[in-house]
Amino acid sequence: MQQVSQFLSDEAATLAFGEAIGRVLAGVPPADVCLHANLIGDLGAGKTTLVRGVLRGLGYAGRVKSPTYPLLETYKADDLTLAHFDLYRLEAPEAFVEAGFQEYFVGPGIRFVEWPDRGGSFLPSPDWCIALSEHTDGGRNVHIEAQTATGANLLGQLSS
Ligand SMILES: Nc1ncnc2c1ncn2[C@@H]1O[C@H](COP(=O)(O)OP(=O)(O)OP(=O)(O)O)[C@@H](O)[C@H]1O
Ligand SMILES: [Mg+2]
Repeated sequence: MQQVSQFLSDEAATLAFGEAIGRVLAGVPPADVCLHANLIGDLGAGKTTLVRGVLRGLGYAGRVKSPTYPLLETYKADDLTLAHFDLYRLEAPEAFVEAGFQEYFVGPGIRFVEWPDRGGSFLPSPDWCIALSEHTDGGRNVHIEAQTATGANLLGQLSS
């Protein structure tokens, strides 16, 4: 199984790590980009910060807000679409279907999901599982595991 681990000493390091992911995705023809990454980690672990970095790497220059209340923010960077979910406040797994969120997982595109467990079995399986945890000295540890062949291919490009 393909995996990557890294220590992120401060917020700038989390942004830079996300940016490197964004640059890998920007290097793939837009019609072929398909990535669903689940973000696992406590409140304040750095999940939104990482997505902010990814968007930066994709060349997105606008503001990136936490989707805590709308549950979903979508972005367009060149011909790529990125959907950023934060399901923390999802009332019940069924609400994921009722909101029409399943259609965001069909076809090409980039999907990052904070608090994926809230969607239960209605959330499709991810290509990456990204775990962020607080380090005892501050900073964060990030660990990415590829769960599909698509995910392994992209993760290989990130670590090369
Ligand atoms: N590597 C790091 N070291 C120290 N602080 C960091 C690091 N990465 C991000 N942070 C800080 O952690 C805080 C919380 O980050 P963020 O909002 O991204 O967390 P989150 O996981 O999305 O939380 P939530 O579950 O509440 O949405 C921010 O103040 C951010 O600057
Ligand atoms: Mg967040």
